[in-house]
Amino acid sequence: MAREFTRVGVVGLGTMGAGIVEVFARNGIDVVAVEISEGALERGRSTLTGSTDRAVAKGKLAAADRDALLSRVNFQVGLEALHSVDLVIEAVPEHLDLKQRIFAELDRVCKPEAILATNTSSLSVTEISVATTRPNQVIGIHFFNPAPVMKLVEVVRTVVTSADVVADVEALCNRLGKVDVTINDRAGFIANALLFGYLNHAVSMFEGRYATREDIDAAMKLGCGLPMGPLALMDLIGLDTAYEILDTMYRRGGRDRRHAPVPLIKQMVTAGLLGRKSGRGFYTYERPGSPVVVPDDQTPVASQAALADGARAIAKVGVVGSGTMATGIIEVFAKAGYEVVSVTRGAEKSAKVFETVKTSLNKGVVRGKLSEDDREAALGRINWSATLEHLADVDLVVEAVVEELSVKKALFASLDEICKPGVVLATTTSSLPVIDVAMATQRPADVVGLHFFNPAPVMPLVEVVQTIRTSAETTATARAVCAALGKTGVVCGDRSGFIVNALLFPYLNDAVKMLEASYSTADDIDYAMKLGCGYPMGPFELLDVVGLDVSLAIQRELYLELREPGFAPAPLLEHLVTAGYLGRKSGRGFRDHTRR
Ligand SMILES: NC(=O)c1ccc[n+]([C@@H]2O[C@H](COP(=O)([O-])OP(=O)(O)OC[C@H]3O[C@@H](n4cnc5c(N)ncnc54)[C@H](O)[C@@H]3O)[C@@H](O)[C@H]2O)c1
Repeated sequence: MAREFTRVGVVGLGTMGAGIVEVFARNGIDVVAVEISEGALERGRSTLTGSTDRAVAKGKLAAADRDALLSRVNFQVGLEALHSVDLVIEAVPEHLDLKQRIFAELDRVCKPEAILATNTSSLSVTEISVATTRPNQVIGIHFFNPAPVMKLVEVVRTVVTSADVVADVEALCNRLGKVDVTINDRAGFIANALLFGYLNHAVSMFEGRYATREDIDAAMKLGCGLPMGPLALMDLIGLDTAYEILDTMYRRGGRDRRHAPVPLIKQMVTAGLLGRKSGRGFYTYERPGSPVVVPDDQTPVASQAALADGARAIAKVGVVGSGTMATGIIEVFAKAGYEVVSVTRGAEKSAKVFETVKTSLNKGVVRGKLSEDDREAALGRINWSATLEHLADVDLVVEAVVEELSVKKALFASLDEICKPGVVLATTTSSLPVIDVAMATQRPADVVGLHFFNPAPVMPLVEVVQTIRTSAETTATARAVCAALGKTGVVCGDRSGFIVNALLFPYLNDAVKMLEASYSTADDIDYAMKLGCGYPMGPFELLDVVGLDVSLAIQRELYLELREPGFAPAPLLEHLVTAGYLGRKSGRGFRDHTRR
């Protein structure tokens, strides 16, 4: 029989604590909510009432249920109020000495059978537990932000946590409607160990002016389907908390440089820019605690007119290539009203591309997204050719041929001879340096990367890659074209992986390393990222879809260019590729797809 928890305590009512109080009280459990001072108690109380009022306003909670929920919470200053609770969750700032002090005090105040839990994200639960005389009753219960919304709870057992306590806490998580994964005490557990390297890397991109905050965030939201971009997430977590988590992970997790907090984070914390809770972090908010972002001096002007500012007029577009990307890109331009010249290596290939574009447009008609007239008009705008000479009078060329530098360079040299002056020459490469392609021409200022995502007609993101020779006019033109296509163009520098792959693949690689170290299972790691961070797919699901060979190749490129030791491909990934386990396409990757 699992233990009944009728009354619990929560210590610290900040970003996490207030949400944890709500989770318990929503599920009919009485809560003693403790803060350090009257002022902090008031802040915690207003966070709770604000959150429950919003739930009522959105129709997610009945007003009577809110009142019942609030009546279950007893707000108190000081730990003495916790003498009769069955379990305490501590959610004070991420400092070991503070947590140890609080646990020693809880040990003194709480009844002997009470379970003492910490919501720490990165500190050692074991080190916290030894501050008490009951380390076997100390456990980590790691909720995710925002606690009332995110389904995951990581239950962290130490070497001395008793099995009964683990089972009781797992049953409690179920009662709260959460999904728990139980793991050992290691820095960052599952989700944060995979998340924070990525967040820190995103901050370093911003710090290094590689891309703007809006573009970094849009890239990860639109390119990977994440619920929020990394910088917005840093603001939600709180920069002070994020700093402490990174710092602890760096020290506890083998001094991986990727966890050494980027200097900008410390500077922002010192300046009081803590994120949402202080009203300003990477973004500016309506007021402290508000989720509403307001414009500030870094906010770009988003109007169509501003986007077109300095851009060249584009009416006729050449697309070179006949593969998946070229085909999708032809469709995208034709649908958006551009005149398109498709150049392939022969009539047969052109016929195939034509059929694929037609089939795709037909699907749009069947789904009611496109009229028959629009389909005919789009097809009518495409001219089919097998010779580059037909690109003499286009305004923009988009190259989407095989991913081989020699082939692309030769093509750009030819385009340089054929195309009229002032044309923008774009490459869709996902891994080659755009500058290499640009230097194959006499007009590198007109060359830019336009990295579309697959399938191009569906994916809303395009990375606009500017080299050190790309002119501002060319970049402006590329952005304006993306907007005219109904896509979001994000501008970044010419570095391996651009924004999305550079941030995504090291995280996937880290997940493989975690599996390889037997810290957790593929299923639990996938759950953790989906339910704890709201990712549409877990890392192993995604790796199997993308292809392990493709993922390994991208990871190798990143490693070779940036020489970051933490980017070295996981040996397990290499072995699976060698064994021919490439993911869905070969029937087996991290999972066996033949039996599903
Ligand atoms: N922010 C996140 O996204 C997140 C997610 C999961 C876990 N965590 C972990 O949760 C814990 C709390 O983080 P947070 O982001 O909520 O911090 P926070 O700074 O928002 O809140 C901490 C609260 O603790 C209170 N406090 C400080 N000393 C206290 C004391 N002696 N007694 C009672 N209350 C005290 C503070 O007044 C403050 O309200 C940390 O261990 C953090 O790592 C954070």
